[in-house]
Amino acid sequence: MNPLNHVAIIMDGNGRWGLKNKNARNAGHKAGLNTVEKIIKVTIKNNIKFLTLYAFSTENWKRPKKEIKFLFNLLEDFLINKIEDLNKQKIKLKIIGKKNFSSKLNSLLKESEKKTIKNKRLQINLALNYGSKVELIDAFKEIKKNKEIINEKNLSKYLQTKNIPDPDLLIRTGNTKRLSNFLLWQLAYSEIFFEKKLWPDFSEKDYNKIINKYKNIKRNFGNI
Ligand code: IPE
Ligand code: IPE
Ligand code: MG
Repeated sequence: MNPLNHVAIIMDGNGRWGLKNKNARNAGHKAGLNTVEKIIKVTIKNNIKFLTLYAFSTENWKRPKKEIKFLFNLLEDFLINKIEDLNKQKIKLKIIGKKNFSSKLNSLLKESEKKTIKNKRLQINLALNYGSKVELIDAFKEIKKNKEIINEKNLSKYLQTKNIPDPDLLIRTGNTKRLSNFLLWQLAYSEIFFEKKLWPDFSEKDYNKIINKYKNIKRNFGNI
């Protein structure tokens, strides 16, 4: 059975769920947050140490202002109301991506990271304003600036995911088969599952089914 240390998730399908069920995309984002809480619980139950959640990409700025505002308000409320609870559950929160939001949200994110930094049960990496291409370009710039040689070790240490093992498993919900600029370097050898269900419909049972399938895959890493 394969060990499972790190799960990464592209939480896709909120907008379609909202339109279908409540005639409003934003209702889907709200419903998606319930799935996030559920999935965190199941991740802990499975004793998985890292969970990376794609919440907002560098390309998502193209969306209508109203939707972007709704998303960040939702995140603000979530942090204000839930960070204590996450802390009690011994969860460490780390943001990957550039924190260039409102000063209120920026400081809320920093505070949340600081508050939970010592926690060891589960590390949640929240990908916010995250894009893999920018991340890689920035890392190469750092190598150049410091006159270091280009190798895997040096590159990895300048990625936002420094000190985080690569994902063993990637799940994308929402019936779309693409990576959308997510962890392009780090997913080199991850097992990938594309799930038809929209994120708000993704259940504990669906998640456990994927985990069990993952555990029985023969992972080669180039070997036989
Ligand atoms: C993913 O759901 C959440 C974010 C990108 C913030 P979408 O909003 O992309 O939902 P669909 O794909 O339009 O249904
Ligand atoms: C990817 O979903 C980003 C997040 C889930 C945050 P998108 O819905 O933005 O991806 P594309 O644009 O359809 O590829
Ligand atoms: Mg989408």
